[in-house]
Amino acid sequence: MARVAAILGGGVIGGGWAARFLLMGWDVRVFDPSPTAQESLGAMLERARAALPALYDVALPGEGRLSFHATISEAVAGAEWIQESVPERLELKRKLYSQVQAVCDANAVIGSSTSGFTPSELQGCATRPGQIVVTHPFNPVYLLPLVELVGSGKTDPGLLDKAEDVLRSVGMFPLRVRAEIPAHIADRFLEAVWREALWLVKDGVATTEEIDDAIRMGFGLRWGQMGLFETYRVAGGPAGMRHFIEQFGPTLTWPWTKLMDVPELTEELIDRIADQSDAQSGHLSIAELETLRDGNLIGMMRSLKARRAAVGAVLAAHEATITPEAPDLMVPMQTLDRLVPTDWVDYNNHMNEARYLTAISEACDRFLLWVGVTPDYIASGGSWFTVENHIRHLGEVRIGARIRAVTQVLDAAGKRLRLFHSLYCGDDLVATGEQMLLHVSLETRRAAPPPPGMADLIARIAAAHEVCGLPEGAGAAIGAR
Ligand SMILES: NC(=O)c1ccc[n+]([C@@H]2O[C@H](COP(=O)([O-])OP(=O)(O)OC[C@H]3O[C@@H](n4cnc5c(N)ncnc54)[C@H](O)[C@@H]3O)[C@@H](O)[C@H]2O)c1
Repeated sequence: MARVAAILGGGVIGGGWAARFLLMGWDVRVFDPSPTAQESLGAMLERARAALPALYDVALPGEGRLSFHATISEAVAGAEWIQESVPERLELKRKLYSQVQAVCDANAVIGSSTSGFTPSELQGCATRPGQIVVTHPFNPVYLLPLVELVGSGKTDPGLLDKAEDVLRSVGMFPLRVRAEIPAHIADRFLEAVWREALWLVKDGVATTEEIDDAIRMGFGLRWGQMGLFETYRVAGGPAGMRHFIEQFGPTLTWPWTKLMDVPELTEELIDRIADQSDAQSGHLSIAELETLRDGNLIGMMRSLKARRAAVGAVLAAHEATITPEAPDLMVPMQTLDRLVPTDWVDYNNHMNEARYLTAISEACDRFLLWVGVTPDYIASGGSWFTVENHIRHLGEVRIGARIRAVTQVLDAAGKRLRLFHSLYCGDDLVATGEQMLLHVSLETRRAAPPPPGMADLIARIAAAHEVCGLPEGAGAAIGAR
């Protein structure tokens, strides 16, 4: 039997919770009086179906059942998890809990998505205050794992353990908050950054876009993979955190922020930070942390480049300026020259077999670009599709190695194009890739002759390359060496 979650309030946050539970196999019962709730939650679920499974390389559990209910009691009766995500009004939330507790299981978890209220405020005069905890998620809840989990003095630690287990089981990262404070931990940062940003805009120092650029082109990426303290530990160099604080400590009293209420940097505070930082990251040297950081940044930035988003747009635009012009196409030509990035490497620390195809595919794309398959040409409805690949792996390639491909046209007749790529690392031939491509009409999705100018150019290249003869391994069947 599927586990049951009740979702009270199915807006931006409740809808995200509903989607996550459903996609992780739970049955989800929703209570939301809004007449548009079903429709907007349906749209959120569609979005989540396309997104959450994309994070995983295994299939998710079968989706649970979604139902909408006209009463709270119908939604919560027998539910193991009750997630409240109604508007941020204390009285509304408290009233809801009294209705919920009248009918729900006494050992169910009642989690509130509240951004700012403390558990004690929420528990108020509830019949079973210990049952209500803060489970503060981040939008989009179906993708981001962080949930701040906060209890009060009245909360049974066993309930928090249980909540933690459930949250982990649906792929989330519960962060137990030790103390009750308004806005918990993460929103405190966001609030400080927000207040500073409002000042910068008000004082005419920066526009909203400039502020966003200041975040996404730099420190936002560092925060995304190491957070604040580990990033600064690395910045402190081999002397680590204590050195960093000593170096930058004095700025605390300088007007570097409008938020001038700062803690005094006593020896005790420095020790506490340095000790906690050692406990957090001391098992790695600064050099190891730098390697880790660089690998993470490369992964994040390359993924943003593929989407031409944020820092990725800068990278892509710069890459275009350093991409080589077409060489003489009438002799076999270099179509690839690059380093093997960290994310192309497998558990043996050499280039993963699939990446040989990536390299060959990049070489092919470059060749096609040079014969006229530009973005405009593709937009006009023509392209080449690969219908066969044959890769021979001849040598090992390590992370960071420089590889290049030389491409020879073996045959070009009508709609068909046969390419042979030789992949080198230094002077060593490490792979060959032979491809058959067909020219297609993107309208009919069927093979169609290339336009005469392109067909003529490719035929002339093929004729010119013919003098080189067939390269070793061309046309080889599998197993033939
Ligand atoms: N939006 C965010 O980024 C964010 C992030 C984390 C936490 N939160 C918190 O999540 C909670 C919900 O915020 P939201 O952004 O999803 O708001 P929202 O306005 O998108 O959704 C609130 C939903 O609650 C429904 N609702 C209103 N009264 C109700 C009732 N009595 N019973 C059941 N449903 C009711 C509304 O119809 C609406 O669909 C708030 O406590 C907020 O602080 C929001």
